[in-house]
Amino acid sequence: MPGGGLLTGFADEPRQGEDLHAWHVLRPLLDVGGYLPWSTGAMRPAALVLVCNEIVHRGRTRVVECGSGASTVVLARLLRERGAGSVAAVEHDGAWAALVGDLLRREALDGVARVVHAPLRGDPPWYASAALDALPPEIDLLVVDGPPAHLAGEEHRRVPALGFFEPRLVPGATVVLDDLHRPGEREVLARWEAETPWRFLVDEVAGVAVGARG
Ligand SMILES: C[S@@+](CC[C@H](N)C(=O)[O-])C[C@H]1O[C@@H](n2cnc3c(N)ncnc32)[C@H](O)[C@@H]1O
Repeated sequence: MPGGGLLTGFADEPRQGEDLHAWHVLRPLLDVGGYLPWSTGAMRPAALVLVCNEIVHRGRTRVVECGSGASTVVLARLLRERGAGSVAAVEHDGAWAALVGDLLRREALDGVARVVHAPLRGDPPWYASAALDALPPEIDLLVVDGPPAHLAGEEHRRVPALGFFEPRLVPGATVVLDDLHRPGEREVLARWEAETPWRFLVDEVAGVAVGARG
């Protein structure tokens, strides 16, 4: 089995040690609420630690996440603990949006986090822009973990994210792109660097790219 996955549950996970460490780092945020339905669709724990560290180290309070899930709940728990900030998660799947919304309400996190249901439209498909009008006008941390891009022919679905959100990204904002273990996300990153002033560093341990303007 590639990467084992027994410790982490991630079949394509090459770094069990780092993720096991990350589970321990995240533990204060995992122990405070109810069960979280973690699955292979969720961010790797090492990636989520990187995002949480960005919130703590750089005081991020205006967080938008493309692709909702367990990560949304963990980020909401962290922002509530810190007493400042909110996260809005964009979700294309209505049933999944409802489930994540229920998880947030169950913990009374709906004042800190919300799921914005935005079906995919167009070719190439991108979140319906009318729904995205509900997002905050200023964003200091953008996490791109959606739309799903793991299937053949859908590898470049995340390309529009940076151009779409650029006008809302405040000076000094950070953009995190997940799933850098996949060739598709590497190509997305190459496009972003070729076509925008944004520059990224790839954290190979966490499997994410972290970028800033210029
Ligand atoms: C990469 S996932 C986003 C995961 C989320 N950021 C997290 O880390 O929990 C992209 C999309 O997959 C879908 N998804 C995520 N987890 C799922 C699950 N357990 N079951 C079904 N769909 C899921 C959702 O539509 C989500 O927007």
